[in-house]
Amino acid sequence: MTGQPDASPGQVAAVVVLAAGEGRRMHSSRSKLLHEIGGHSLLSYAVTAATMLQPQHVVVVVGHLRDQVEAHLAEVAPHVQTVVQEEQRGTGHAVQVALAALPELAGEVVVTYGDVPLLTGDTLADLVTAHRVERAAVTVLTATVPDPTGYGRVLRDAEGHVEAVVEERDADEAQRRVSEINSGVYVFAPAALRAGLAGLRPDNSQGELYLTDVLADARRSGGTVSAHPVADVWQTEGVNDRVQLSRLGLELNRRTLERWMRAGVTVLDPATTWVHASVDLAPDVTLLPGTSLEGATSVAAGAVVGPDTTLVDVEVGEGATVARTQASLSVIGAGASVGPFAFLRPGTRLGAGGKIGTFVEAKNARIGAGAKVPHLSYVGDAEIADEANIGAGVIMANYDGVHKATTTVGRASFVGSNSVLTAPVVVGDGAYVAAGSTITSDVGPGELGVGRGQQRNIRGWVLRKRAGTKTARAAAAAAEQGATQQADAAGAGQDAQPGRDEQTGGAAR
Ligand code: UD1
Ligand code: CA
Repeated sequence: MTGQPDASPGQVAAVVVLAAGEGRRMHSSRSKLLHEIGGHSLLSYAVTAATMLQPQHVVVVVGHLRDQVEAHLAEVAPHVQTVVQEEQRGTGHAVQVALAALPELAGEVVVTYGDVPLLTGDTLADLVTAHRVERAAVTVLTATVPDPTGYGRVLRDAEGHVEAVVEERDADEAQRRVSEINSGVYVFAPAALRAGLAGLRPDNSQGELYLTDVLADARRSGGTVSAHPVADVWQTEGVNDRVQLSRLGLELNRRTLERWMRAGVTVLDPATTWVHASVDLAPDVTLLPGTSLEGATSVAAGAVVGPDTTLVDVEVGEGATVARTQASLSVIGAGASVGPFAFLRPGTRLGAGGKIGTFVEAKNARIGAGAKVPHLSYVGDAEIADEANIGAGVIMANYDGVHKATTTVGRASFVGSNSVLTAPVVVGDGAYVAAGSTITSDVGPGELGVGRGQQRNIRGWVLRKRAGTKTARAAAAAAEQGATQQADAAGAGQDAQPGRDEQTGGAAR
């Protein structure tokens, strides 16, 4: 190296995430840190940013509702270590407890909060770099805000170095006018931190051990205390109540949508479109108003989603359209069409070019390429092969009150409208089911299954049973006209009209 300060963001020894506080203003039985924005807990953002520094240790200091917090961390971030702060005696005490649980550290220690979700790993890395460039004992992340009420104020000397951080309740008039605030995020040289923590006294208005007193101590000991301002003040904002929760959730969503729009996604109405941080979108996707994309949802190029659609863990293929639909854990093939007003429950897999239409509910159903379920159907526990056509109002009766069973419909088969397929049942390839059938046994390939009573027409019934009604008058008129026509037809030697196929009667398309 050249003797220049080492500005590369190498490994820090530890990141300590403070998360023991009570979060009283949430008025919740759930830990504040488990409340979510953008589909992830507040704490998971903090842990993700901490982990991006690739420290030797990530330590989360837990206290209030710690069983919930520990269980959550075990699920989303099993690599982090938790340390219990039994009694919350202040931010300095929390860091003391964390260090006591770690081996002797040689590298820097970064301290952040669990309830500051927009702070990024990049900002932490910049903070560490600035700290190293300045060869500082402590570097504090600061922000200049229009309303600094409630925050600790950063007091700087003539050279711009930090003399101290004073809490609002301990500050005088002049200090309160300072608009540069302490974010509560710091990098400490390990020796300065150890020395500072050892000397903490609860000699302040709250009787707490203040981590901020380590800064003044480092300064007194001749160290440099630097401030690293972040222009994006959202990154320093914590969540204390549900108003802030929604404020930061809105801002996160705005940022997510802006990122996708810059990457080629059309968002018609960002105000009503919600996209979780974990969602993946391709260029030329269009999101219509009222769309919410959650979890591991992905949407391929050219697909149009919305309006008024919620997709949770759904894969949407290239060029598909999904309108006014609620779907979870489902796959929608390329060029397929879903909705309006469809409900796709877990395990729905619609093939390329397939259709799940209006007022259709599907669950654990594979619907093949080019297969269509256009109207008013329930498709549960079903295997519908490619190119099959399911008529309007068809129900796959998958549940006998005790067991669930599967319905299979073969390739290019045609199930007539208003049929019930009572599972387990197989309709073979290239088969038909007559409209209005209740199918309880298999229909073989190429067969027509008819599962209903033969139609009977009872001549003269209306005139006999409904005499004097308008229907009877219409019947009488029709009979008279029919007689005349028959006479004419007989006179001209014409054949009767060819009858239509009365058996199948599927919906048009
Ligand atoms: C702290 C800072 C203040 C800064 C502000 C930024 C101190 C003395 N003051 O004030 O300068 O402007 O943060 O938000 O540090 N916590 C624990 N254990 C404790 C106490 C707190 O884990 O014993 C955690 C809390 O859960 C919270 C964070 O530390 O996540 C901050 O604690 P809080 O009491 O909110 O500090 P502030 O008074 O806001
Ligand atoms: Ca706070």
